[in-house]
Amino acid sequence: MKEYNLDERNIITMEDKEVIVHTNDLHVFYGNNEAIKGVDLEFEKNKITALIGPSGCGKSTYLRSLNRMNDGIANTRVTGEIMYKGVNVNSSNVDVYEMRKRIGMVFQRPNPFSKSIYENITFALKRHGEKDKHKLDEIVETSLKQAALWDQVKDSLHKSAHALSGGQQQRLCIARAIAMKPDILLLDEPASALDPISTGKVEETLINLKEEYSIVIVTHNMQQAARISDYTAFFYLGNVIEYDVTSKIFTRPKIQATEDYVSGHFG
Ligand SMILES: Nc1ncnc2c1ncn2[C@@H]1O[C@H](COP(=O)(O)OP(=O)(O)OP(=O)(O)O)[C@@H](O)[C@H]1O
Ligand SMILES: [Mg+2]
Repeated sequence: MKEYNLDERNIITMEDKEVIVHTNDLHVFYGNNEAIKGVDLEFEKNKITALIGPSGCGKSTYLRSLNRMNDGIANTRVTGEIMYKGVNVNSSNVDVYEMRKRIGMVFQRPNPFSKSIYENITFALKRHGEKDKHKLDEIVETSLKQAALWDQVKDSLHKSAHALSGGQQQRLCIARAIAMKPDILLLDEPASALDPISTGKVEETLINLKEEYSIVIVTHNMQQAARISDYTAFFYLGNVIEYDVTSKIFTRPKIQATEDYVSGHFG
């Protein structure tokens, strides 16, 4: 195993760009294990940012912290700031439920509810008090269109979501997340359980979505990161070693560890 100098970093800042969310000195501990060791990252609005790095380096932990999904894990401690619209998401007085309407998440395995396609999308909206049938219909249609699924399911909206293919289920989960009109969509390896065709469709969907949403995606698939993301952050051992525009990370990274990782010569 090669030793890398972890003090050597290249982390860009957004200068004059509009930042949707940023973390300051973010640390995440599971008991005594410090999984994230002081990460400062800025995410540009309406862009796709990919988080890459070897297994166990903290990508999912970092992503989950952005909408406090780590809260539910016992013995977890998160310190530092997650700044979103002038509010520290990590402070105790934040209404986590409301915050997650603004910062939504899609998981690795498609996890639709055991309900119809229609109800998957309207469930949370109804819980938030939306009763207007016409409005719900409209949101179902626009969310499914944005998730590039409408044409395939418009005649079977009341069929079970479990009757869909894996790729369709994942796009339904994306539709369900965007029905809440979040600002930010967090996705943890959303295509890793899918075949190449479904993966391609999910990727197309994400590229279309960035007109309206800011997207942060964890991926192990280097081609995927290169294809769809504007920025890439390379995580290693709980730190971000390099953060730059995606084309630079993949063609001329400044840090050796990044170069070795993206070229498949790591470790
Ligand atoms: N729920 C948990 N409880 C305790 N430790 C955890 C938990 N989740 C992750 N960890 C630890 O935190 C560290 C980072 O894990 P994380 O899942 O964030 O890595 P990752 O980069 O997403 O890896 P992968 O690419 O394999 O998904 C690891 O040491 C892991 O063992
Ligand atoms: Mg992970």
